Amino acid sequence: MSYDALFEPIKIGDVKIKNRVAMAPMNMVYSAPDGFNSEQWTAWYAARAKGGFGLIITDATVVNPNTWRGSDHLNCHLFTDERYGRLLGMMADTIHAFGSKVFIQLSPGFGRQGHASARAPHEPIAAPSPIPIRIDLRNFNKGWITQVKKLRPELSQILESIGGLAGLQSLTDEQYENLESLIVPVMKVKDPGMIKVVYGEVPRELEAHEIAFMEDKMAEMSMEALRYGFDGVEIHSPHGYLIHQFLSRRSNLRVDEYGGPLKNRARFLLNIIRKIRDRIGPEAVLGARFSGDEMMPDGVTHDEMCEVVELAAAEGLSYISISQGCYENPGAFAPDGEGEMTKYAEGFREASGGLPILTPNFMTPKAAAEAVGKGLTDVAMLGRQAIADPFWPAKVKEGRFKDIVKCARCNLCYLNLFEHKWLECKVNPTAGYEKYLPELWRVNAPAVKEKVDKFLAKAEGLPSI
Ligand SMILES: Cc1cc2nc3c(=O)[nH]c(=O)nc-3n(C[C@H](O)[C@H](O)[C@H](O)COP(=O)(O)O)c2cc1C
Ligand code: SF4
Repeated sequence: MSYDALFEPIKIGDVKIKNRVAMAPMNMVYSAPDGFNSEQWTAWYAARAKGGFGLIITDATVVNPNTWRGSDHLNCHLFTDERYGRLLGMMADTIHAFGSKVFIQLSPGFGRQGHASARAPHEPIAAPSPIPIRIDLRNFNKGWITQVKKLRPELSQILESIGGLAGLQSLTDEQYENLESLIVPVMKVKDPGMIKVVYGEVPRELEAHEIAFMEDKMAEMSMEALRYGFDGVEIHSPHGYLIHQFLSRRSNLRVDEYGGPLKNRARFLLNIIRKIRDRIGPEAVLGARFSGDEMMPDGVTHDEMCEVVELAAAEGLSYISISQGCYENPGAFAPDGEGEMTKYAEGFREASGGLPILTPNFMTPKAAAEAVGKGLTDVAMLGRQAIADPFWPAKVKEGRFKDIVKCARCNLCYLNLFEHKWLECKVNPTAGYEKYLPELWRVNAPAVKEKVDKFLAKAEGLPSI
């Protein structure tokens, strides 16, 4: 079979990307203290750029300067003001030196999926409405259950006693409540961090002036991101985070202009797009990422999301990136298999008036090349597969299929993230340690090395004086 479709260049806005293989946004939380970029995070992206990803979309980078943002427990990349710009800009420059383009994903905050900051523990997180999340373990899949079982032998035994994943998913509400009464006391003592993820905090309701402030902030920092060298900006609006919370009736019970009918629930998103466009002009690349379906009762359906995409595209988007689910349905956003999300591409393409579509959840070259070749998506994004093998695109291009290291879909990476541990991968021993590999340093990048060598040659053989 031919894999050529993956290596056709594509233009998004005015940005020319050398192939159709992108790295999906992933928060590896390799940040330095206070959300600054680190050498490790730069090297992490350099590895994927060296490995041939034409486009890299960064982790969700939070522009919200308020502690109610809810992201401090993870120590995400921050971009709240100019102090953060130089290191983020250096990261973009390093990615460019290895031949890839980079869009920065900007987030206004975590809303009800976040947690109070350790710096201001008594200040609640804030969201559209005071409704906490509650994760129903029946929405877990094989990958998540693998990790839950590893967490504690007691949990593993309890799950085995009900017939594993299949047994769990077939429980009635009453049976599930009984199971919770067994599991929660164990986890409360031994895994308080995980309990915090499963049963969220009650957020306070955001005031209208705070919402308008965040719209302006997203616009200001988008302009700054472009000034620091990023090729485009992506609005972080999937997976039940703050913007998605406004879109969803599950999390938005407001009675003001930001609540009620879909057009009102989309107001935060639409104002953000309009204000960003006003600041960055009509040409710069501005995309948005959406869950194709929230996949929860009363959540945003695919049909509603198509309406949102239509409204959003009319405000001036350059592309649409797809995902699905939210924290309350974690199996949805981390599928066990591959190719599950192209089902939203047709609806989103039509609703957006034909904008380029970026879709994740690929592992095998065959599935990715077929999806792009058949026009199911314009760009194939690799999420966990890009953690497992940073060199996937180059290996596919060279026909070295046997050398591809396959993602085991074990979700260890996700568990590390939520357990606040250093993020490692089951099958890639270099993940998390890229900064120790000199071939990934900017001075050794193809676009820079010759100049560096020439410069250093002029100092060769000098005595120590
Ligand atoms: C560790 C980790 C962190 C993630 N962080 C983000 C993020 O910051 N922003 C985002 O839009 N999606 C994030 N995702 C979701 C991925 O972009 C992707 O949609 C998901 O992993 C499914 O694609 P895959 O099957 O190719 O992995 C994250 C995924 C992982 C594994
Ligand atoms: S193999 Fe690596 S990338 Fe894949 S799910 Fe496991 S830890 Fe994550």
